[in-house]
Amino acid sequence: MPDLSGKAAIVTGCASGIGAATLRRLREDGAKVLGTDIDEATGNKICQKTGASFAVQDVSDRAGWEEIVAKAVSTFGRLDILVNNAGIVSGASIGDVDDETWDRVIAVNLTGTMAGCRAAISAMKDNPGGAKGSIINISSTTAMAPLPTDVGYSASKGGVRVLSKSVATWCAQQGYAIRCNTVIPGATETGILNAAEEATPGLKAAVAATSPMNRLADPAETAAAIAFLASDECPFMTGAELLVDGGALSIHPGF
Ligand SMILES: NC(=O)c1ccc[n+]([C@@H]2O[C@H](COP(=O)([O-])OP(=O)(O)OC[C@H]3O[C@@H](n4cnc5c(N)ncnc54)[C@H](O)[C@@H]3O)[C@@H](O)[C@H]2O)c1
Repeated sequence: MPDLSGKAAIVTGCASGIGAATLRRLREDGAKVLGTDIDEATGNKICQKTGASFAVQDVSDRAGWEEIVAKAVSTFGRLDILVNNAGIVSGASIGDVDDETWDRVIAVNLTGTMAGCRAAISAMKDNPGGAKGSIINISSTTAMAPLPTDVGYSASKGGVRVLSKSVATWCAQQGYAIRCNTVIPGATETGILNAAEEATPGLKAAVAATSPMNRLADPAETAAAIAFLASDECPFMTGAELLVDGGALSIHPGF
């Protein structure tokens, strides 16, 4: 298990799915964590249960990011880890997407991730002991094999991959030991997928079958990859991408 003791983290979208699993995992590995979510009731409950702090946050609110980072620094004295996890789907293709739907999914998934990186770096560069930290941005296999049915989601997750590399290389060029990496989950058993299953019964089984492992990921399996990137186990990994997709994108489509 990676040792995260003494480290301070922010995890967005902590009330459900991959975010909740990440909050639990980082706590188990010894980090102090500030979880954030728009869902105050559930987020607060999960944070209380795991001994984490909680703050209500809409990640698309750029000004609000300064407050969230300031809260982490005033509570913990430093910021070592940011997991930009909060995300939404939009369910609209290029044939029917309206401006409001497009703007919202880009604002949450891509602009929110950028604003989180920017605010976190401004704190991480002033960490006691020197500029150091680890940012983990959550993309999706739809960034590599996009959904024809969700143009905004796929495009936003593609943007997250390139954003992470730009952030990673800029930090390295500044001489900061601030790393930025991307985790790319495949189909994972969470709220997003359960909502999709209600709309399209049988979808979960169909998506599970795209992986040669013939199953969905447990959110804890994605959280394990996030905890590794958050730790000091991989100091030369920056701008990297970790696929957690059960091999779904590694197999020829004919097999
Ligand atoms: N589940 C999958 O199959 C899958 C696959 C690939 C990538 N992902 C990505 O993983 C991340 C987590 O998704 P999940 O599957 O755990 O979904 P989820 O719906 O279970 O959890 C998402 C959480 O984000 C919160 N949230 C939504 N909008 C927010 C906002 N504007 N500000 C703050 N919090 C907000 C929600 O309240 C919820 O608690 C997302 O970025 C998603 O795109 C999920």
